[in-house]
Amino acid sequence: MNKPDNWQQRARAQAELVLERVLPAENSLPQRLHQAMRYAVLGGGKRLRPLLVLAAAELGQSEAAAAEAALAAVELVHVYSLVHDDMPAMDNDSLRRGKPTCHVQYDEATALLVGDALQTLAFDVLSRPNGLPAQRQLQMVHTLSRASGSFGMAGGQAIDLQSVGQCIGQTELETMHRLKTGALIRAAVALGALSCPDLGDAALVRLDDYAAKLGLAFQVIDDVLDCEADTATLGKTAGKDQEADKPTYVKLMGLNAARDYAERLVAEAQQALSGFDTRADRLRQLAAFVTERRN
Ligand code: IPE
Ligand code: IPE
Ligand code: MG
Ligand code: MG
Ligand code: MG
Repeated sequence: MNKPDNWQQRARAQAELVLERVLPAENSLPQRLHQAMRYAVLGGGKRLRPLLVLAAAELGQSEAAAAEAALAAVELVHVYSLVHDDMPAMDNDSLRRGKPTCHVQYDEATALLVGDALQTLAFDVLSRPNGLPAQRQLQMVHTLSRASGSFGMAGGQAIDLQSVGQCIGQTELETMHRLKTGALIRAAVALGALSCPDLGDAALVRLDDYAAKLGLAFQVIDDVLDCEADTATLGKTAGKDQEADKPTYVKLMGLNAARDYAERLVAEAQQALSGFDTRADRLRQLAAFVTERRN
């Protein structure tokens, strides 16, 4: 297999450059909103979703401009979800990516608008001409919008909030995790594949199997790390789930069983890639990263 670190570092640097380019300049009006958008997006985060876009794009003849637009779009929606997730009406967190959260650094009204503006910027970027046939590009817009809304991330967040203090079963918990976190991870993989006009439906279906397993595993590990890691390593407040009495995999099955479950899901995700050649190695490396990560 190719060396993971070099590729991941290069891909992260590429993602950083693209995000920097698509965000409004700090000195453009309204300056405070644009500064806050840049504050929330730049200089932090693992950039897993952009990396998944680029890794999936390696499977075919990717249109580079489309892959770059997609990596930016999915990360912008993700960051918007983080900014709103941290607000007092939701998880009420003061630390994100090792820095004060957006509403703490700026104010709540600005944080609301940052989320709104990042979300619409995502679709602005994704709908610009990018060299793909219009039908394919429309499929990308549709994929990200479904994954972001009430049948995806926002729906999962709603279930999360209404489940505070409750003992929900594994089926409901799985639905919540698949929506609030899994949907955008699936969208990232799909967008990378859709940026390759030569990849057909059969490949997309197998990749979606990989991405669905990985997306669930990612949130199970998020639950584990919330309980296991310290605030400095996480860059966000540790122990928040227990404090807020959130339903999590750790609460449902215990720390060790939750980690085992995530590892099993990642093994299944790897299995879903078995029909692909070495061009899927980046996706294989990212699957391993999901359970190896420390933050
Ligand atoms: C945190 O996502 C929120 C979840 C959806 C679990 P990440 O762990 O990907 O956060 P960043 O982007 O690296 O900060
Ligand atoms: C958030 O889940 C998922 C999102 C859509 C942002 P969490 O609330 O567990 O994410 P963290 O732990 O604050 O990053
Ligand atoms: Mg939350
Ligand atoms: Mg949270
Ligand atoms: Mg969490």
